[in-house]
Amino acid sequence: MSAGCPSAPDTLATACGKVILLGEHAVVYGVPALCGALERGALVHAVPGDGRLRVPAWQVTTASASELVARPAGAFFAANAAPSVLDQAFFAILRALHDACGQPLLSLSHDFVASFTIPTGAGLGSSAALAVALARCLNRTLALGLADEHIDAAALAAERVFHGEPSGLDHTVAQHGGFGLFRRGNGLTAIPDLPQDMRALSLVVGYTGRARNTKERVARVAELYKRDRASIDACFSRIARLVETAVAALKGGDLRALGEAMNQNQAELTRLEVSCPEIEHMCMLAHTAGAWGAKLTGGGGGGCVIALAPAHENHVAAAWQRAGYPSFIVQIGRQ
Ligand code: PMV
Repeated sequence: MSAGCPSAPDTLATACGKVILLGEHAVVYGVPALCGALERGALVHAVPGDGRLRVPAWQVTTASASELVARPAGAFFAANAAPSVLDQAFFAILRALHDACGQPLLSLSHDFVASFTIPTGAGLGSSAALAVALARCLNRTLALGLADEHIDAAALAAERVFHGEPSGLDHTVAQHGGFGLFRRGNGLTAIPDLPQDMRALSLVVGYTGRARNTKERVARVAELYKRDRASIDACFSRIARLVETAVAALKGGDLRALGEAMNQNQAELTRLEVSCPEIEHMCMLAHTAGAWGAKLTGGGGGGCVIALAPAHENHVAAAWQRAGYPSFIVQIGRQ
């Protein structure tokens, strides 16, 4: 089933993952990023229970909503149980939904069971997809009648728990899908006048095998920025121009130019110290197998590499598989 499917039954909600084609890290500093939704993502099912979030893939179950939610406000957690990150994210969503609907979400008669159809911890937006799918599932199951903006606020609250101060790109794409330019504070805008055959792109996604750590890599870029603002600003300006080049390439149907912009963006990301040996190796393998563009996607330091390789997708996927990097071919941008 495709993530974000509107005909899902009431007890099931979905949301999609994403890839960033160009512009990660610079997007945190206001540069637009070119991104697209994956057809895959996260699913959350409501089942009979007592108000817990369960993520079997991570072997984690949170405390129940009644254990987490404050009764006077402020005393959020049971004194004798240190909250896990997932407890805190679940609580952040409950609190945001509570603020929006004015209804205490305490004695729930469902558990919320999450599963993924993308690798997690890999830079494909799985935490944002989980946050959006969970907020949607709570909204549906409890008939809260909340609007998209409330789901958005709840998902952002959870993303802050997972990632510190995220740009908001992941949960925006997880919620809205599609393909476009994300600018911090402005949301996602579709690229006007895209030729029909450029509205969805085929990419190869490969996993380095090393978990990416967005929080740590964002902190590293912040450190570099503090130390040498002029050269990091210059790097962000070059990335901004590459994003413009990529958009023009898409509008002109020039995938070679898009691939070249991706390659140059990867070089800038290496300068920002968010690449790693596995990413560099995978980019090299992709080029040898015929890719026009290859780069990391997301926070970096591990996670996934994407390759644009028209008519050579299977070669790139096979080269990565042979070298021990799991890979799959995706379409991004389909609504
Ligand atoms: O690693 P991900 O999928 O969470 O993507 C992070 C993207 C960054 O630009 C590095 C951070 C952000 O908040 O946009």
